[in-house]
Amino acid sequence: MERNLKELISQMTLEEKAGMCSGLDFWHLKGVERLGIPSVMVSDGPHGLRKQDEKADHLGINDSIKAVCFPPAVLSACSYDRKLLEKLGEVVGDEAQAKNLSVVLGPAVNIKRSPLCGRNFEYYSEDPYLAGEAAASFINGVQSRHVGTSIKHFAANNQEFNRMSASSEVDERTLREIYLPAFETAVKKSQPYTVMCSYNKINGTYASENPWLLTEVLRDEWGFKGYVMSDWGAVNDRVEGLKAGLDLEMPSSNGINDAEIVKAVQEGTLDEAVLDQAVERILKIVFEYLDNKKEQPLTLEQDHEFAQHAAEESIVLLKNEENILPLKEKEQVAFIGGFVKNPRYQGGGSSHVNPFKVTSAWDALSSKENITYAEGFSSEKDFYDEKLVAEAVETAKQAEKVIIFAGLPESFESEGYDREHMQLPECQNRLIAEIAKVQPNTIVVLHNGAAVEMAWVQNIKGVVEAYLGGQAVGQALVNILYGIVNPSGKLAETLPIKLEDNPSYLNFGDGEKVEYNEGVFVGYRYYDKKKMKVAFPFGHGLSYTTFEYSNLKTDKDTMKEGDTIQVSVDVTNTGDCFGKEVVQLYISDLTGAARRPEKELKGFEKVALNPGETRTVTFTLDKRSLAWYSTELHDWYAASGEYQILIAASSRDVRLKKTIQWESAQRLPLHIHLNSTLGELLKDERTRELGKELKGKLDAFFGAVDGTADQIDDAVSDDMGDAMAMSMPIRNVLSFGLADKEELQAKLDELNNK
Ligand code: BGC
Repeated sequence: MERNLKELISQMTLEEKAGMCSGLDFWHLKGVERLGIPSVMVSDGPHGLRKQDEKADHLGINDSIKAVCFPPAVLSACSYDRKLLEKLGEVVGDEAQAKNLSVVLGPAVNIKRSPLCGRNFEYYSEDPYLAGEAAASFINGVQSRHVGTSIKHFAANNQEFNRMSASSEVDERTLREIYLPAFETAVKKSQPYTVMCSYNKINGTYASENPWLLTEVLRDEWGFKGYVMSDWGAVNDRVEGLKAGLDLEMPSSNGINDAEIVKAVQEGTLDEAVLDQAVERILKIVFEYLDNKKEQPLTLEQDHEFAQHAAEESIVLLKNEENILPLKEKEQVAFIGGFVKNPRYQGGGSSHVNPFKVTSAWDALSSKENITYAEGFSSEKDFYDEKLVAEAVETAKQAEKVIIFAGLPESFESEGYDREHMQLPECQNRLIAEIAKVQPNTIVVLHNGAAVEMAWVQNIKGVVEAYLGGQAVGQALVNILYGIVNPSGKLAETLPIKLEDNPSYLNFGDGEKVEYNEGVFVGYRYYDKKKMKVAFPFGHGLSYTTFEYSNLKTDKDTMKEGDTIQVSVDVTNTGDCFGKEVVQLYISDLTGAARRPEKELKGFEKVALNPGETRTVTFTLDKRSLAWYSTELHDWYAASGEYQILIAASSRDVRLKKTIQWESAQRLPLHIHLNSTLGELLKDERTRELGKELKGKLDAFFGAVDGTADQIDDAVSDDMGDAMAMSMPIRNVLSFGLADKEELQAKLDELNNK
């Protein structure tokens, strides 16, 4: 149905228009009854509905309706499965339709800069490509149901401490390469109905009133067409926000900020057209939802099954020495740890879902005979209970294999605060060590929203990373442990050995200004560059079968501006059971034109294979796959030269390589002056001739000096002389009287202006 929104808006009073730009209450937008504009509702969140019918809050304090808790992003990203994430979006979209929600407040795509961020469980990855692809798939799924999404928190919201006032100090290149692309990809591939701006400042300006962010980048460059809403309470100056591109303030400001808008228009400091535009953007989305509203049953049981499936496709088998897993039905297995009966499957805060049921591993094990259980430790606190430990050790001794369900208690991580350390509760680390002493066949299953240190990892044979797996995680885990499902998840973040290894360690969690000094070297980009050992690398995940990679091909070897390259590789299941492999494609820039990570993820595909089966996996690369962000050009740039395609099973398990050639049509601007060095001149083809000429003059000069003073020969080797010349500013050539200043300056000007 075509609606004439401009005409509708022309009938609204100034007060009604200002009112449209803020919430009615905690969860509703305002309606205008006399004009047939109904009030619609929005609700958290990304991995299940948190629709509050009664008492409202944005911190997950009060209960919401019974719904399904799907695996949070920390786990679902590990599926590396676009179709699965899209399906997850469809299911959430259907539930939102059933519960009359116009917008679901997610997905959350902030980059995991530090393992300590309290909200990492809600975020997909340390890698912007993966986060962007995951978000776009999810958004496409939800919006196929004509329910909106609100991709959040835009942008550079990477810690919880002082999230409402701190300024993320991030340089332009780092913003473009690391912190913005997940939003960019989602806008370009899935056009989210809404974007939620973050609480924090970026380089001193609140995200909620940042015209560069909300208008120049988001709308003018990326082509965003929906409305921008504030995070709950993120508005600092409402009128400045509106001018910058913040359309909707949430929640209600009790009329206070609406009145400021009215006043600004009346006083002529705010153009009414800006207000009209915001109202139009909001109404467009409101009607997109209303005009496509349909009856939708709530299918909780069916959705619970999907939650289980999503967890099964995402759980990561980190370690499996001697093929300790899968378990066999006849084996005597002891299950230990409070999480066996009381799983931790979601995080705290605004995304907290009220699940209609939860399946623990113990529930899922009920039909098995050869199993025993000991609590060992509580899932809720860090308390070393001698009696529980003694029982657990005894139970462990009597079993053939032991599975310890360890993890972070709920109080350890949540929205609103960051963790102080990266450790499991001490009682759990001690218990794992005790059990490993008496039981050689020990496996640890982890329930955690973010990376934890695993000091005991060398002393046990298996580790399963279940992260926070949603309400059906128990069944999913049992299916994986017993080999009913072959694990196929891969890590969406690096698990460092210790917190201090993390690149943000020295600059994380500061109060007023958070300096992102590590720049683009976030996650594996840093660990790889520093050739550091990590506990488990980004992209890592094992299977009960094995895969071989072969036959890497490209359809061309040279790519030019506007071209794409098709890459194909064969993957074969060389083991004896069905399995799925996540094939990863990384790019390594060999040109040396800029300081860049060793490799960056630019493609992934998940492929399902029967034993013996081979399939060809394909990828498409374009200029952007090779490029970095030049702050000189304010654009993406890839220097001409060689780039390597790496086909890998993880960021540290590269199976095949192929080098391609890129021919750039762009050139970085020249800025040479009398203090530019000879080295700089010689490096750039545009100035090389001049560099050679000046170097020649210098060589001739020193050669002449050489003849008269023998001792210089001993003190200055040829290599050293060359090296010194390389970092010699051009003005020094002048000071030796080897060139004419005016002539040289004219030459430099000519080259600069070419
Ligand atoms: C969170 C958002 C959430 C909103 C509404 C805020 O505190 O940062 O992610 O959508 O509350 O609950």
